[in-house]
Amino acid sequence: METRSQWGTRAGFILAAMGSAIGLGNIWRFPATAYENGGGAFFIPYLIALLTAGIPILIMEFTMGHKYRGSAPLTFRKVNKKSEVVGWWAVMVAFVISTYYSVIIAWAISYSVFSINLSWGDDTGSFLIGDYLQRTVDPGQTGSFVPGVLIPLIIVWVLVLGILFRGVKKGIEVANRIFIPALAVIFLIIVIRAVTLPGAMEGLEAFFKPDFSQILNPQVWVAAYGQIFFSLSIAFAIMITYSSYLPKKSDITNNAFITGFGNSSFELLAGIGVFGILGYMASTTGQTIDSVVQGGVGLAFIAFPEIINNFPAFNELFGFLFFACLVLAGLTSLMSIIETYIAGLSEKFNISRGKAVLFGGGTAAVISLLFATQGGLFFLDSADYFINQFGVALLGLVEVVLLVWVFRKLKGLRTHADDVSDIRLGSWWTISLGVITPVVLGYMMFMLLKTNILKQHTNSDGEVIGNYEGYPDMFIYFGGWGVAIGALVFGILLTLPRWKGPHAQETSYESETKEAK
Ligand code: ALA
Repeated sequence: METRSQWGTRAGFILAAMGSAIGLGNIWRFPATAYENGGGAFFIPYLIALLTAGIPILIMEFTMGHKYRGSAPLTFRKVNKKSEVVGWWAVMVAFVISTYYSVIIAWAISYSVFSINLSWGDDTGSFLIGDYLQRTVDPGQTGSFVPGVLIPLIIVWVLVLGILFRGVKKGIEVANRIFIPALAVIFLIIVIRAVTLPGAMEGLEAFFKPDFSQILNPQVWVAAYGQIFFSLSIAFAIMITYSSYLPKKSDITNNAFITGFGNSSFELLAGIGVFGILGYMASTTGQTIDSVVQGGVGLAFIAFPEIINNFPAFNELFGFLFFACLVLAGLTSLMSIIETYIAGLSEKFNISRGKAVLFGGGTAAVISLLFATQGGLFFLDSADYFINQFGVALLGLVEVVLLVWVFRKLKGLRTHADDVSDIRLGSWWTISLGVITPVVLGYMMFMLLKTNILKQHTNSDGEVIGNYEGYPDMFIYFGGWGVAIGALVFGILLTLPRWKGPHAQETSYESETKEAK
């Protein structure tokens, strides 16, 4: 008898998958990444990455989860016993991401409160770094805890673990049914207001104006693929876990297209909204767009507060809505990131969901405290960079090569997806996964290793600064390489104990499913 948790409805699954995909990556990372990597010309590598890697891998992961019905470790174990380690590695990558992702949501909670009386003042840069994050230490030092981060961080963990404790249908699905429509409404209000601001059009022009000289730059392709992987929540165990809760009769391919295009549409809208607002800021302060645009932390927590200060009307409300968007988008993604290890732990060690939430989530929460210290921002920045490049992107490559070339599962997965889906997979899917993605990702990995090992990072003026962000060697070894390699090492360690949960005795899954038919 099937006792595995399941989504209540198809819409429930799609909302959860979209909730996972749409996150800080869309609002916080995409607009600046696109602008820095060729503006309008970035869309070419971005679209190619979406169509040849993003959606094909999403379909592959949905199919794996649906066919093998397990967390990432169990799914990979069913593909081939030897590959269980890949599942655990992916779960550990998700674990690392959850430890700092939660912290960015905590900042957004603080900032939604600050926006009520614009308490960040006029100098938003020194407010963030000095007053709020109290970053007075060097990279690698922790300093003391920052209560302003610690308190909202605890709220984030209590809220998310509480939702996850309630289970797939009653917890994750219900939360997404509330959060995602709320997010969509608030987000639309922001975008509409943004594009109707004076100067918005100049911002959009800067965003969409293609700089074709960038297209041959490998860094731009690395950025596009990296963005797609993180943004679509692929190659870090999430979509395999979520699709393992699909009922047997479920469409796969169509759902993957809806999720993929939904996520990219949201991303594009975020870009339009952000650049409309940056255009307004540039025109009111007489600056160029180039000088107002900032990536990541800078965009959301320095540039935006400054713009909110200068808003024509309803500054506080607009500020609150913007940070509420970040919180909602972040929470629905964080749930999916944590669910990977809750599912993995409870299946492997045959423990209840509650225990897995407490143990897995509790450990992640404790580690996340590191990022709530005075040196937290440095740790967060390097962990984020290294785990994305040598965790997520590398896993994407390993996953595809294993499935396609080592275990030769593509044909079986294709048949499985076609059997249950409206849209049939064409040779586009096989060629993308079999050839294009491994070649592009392989090249990308080579370039990334070269840049990081030979310390060839450059700044925005093209001068070589050595390590990522010019950080000291020791810090990069521990806070960067250590984190990425640590995820793999812990992945191996979690593979070693005997499988105690369901399917422990199974030797050949393929024969079992044939009999079942
Ligand atoms: N997919 C999630 C994001 O974009 C992780 O933030």
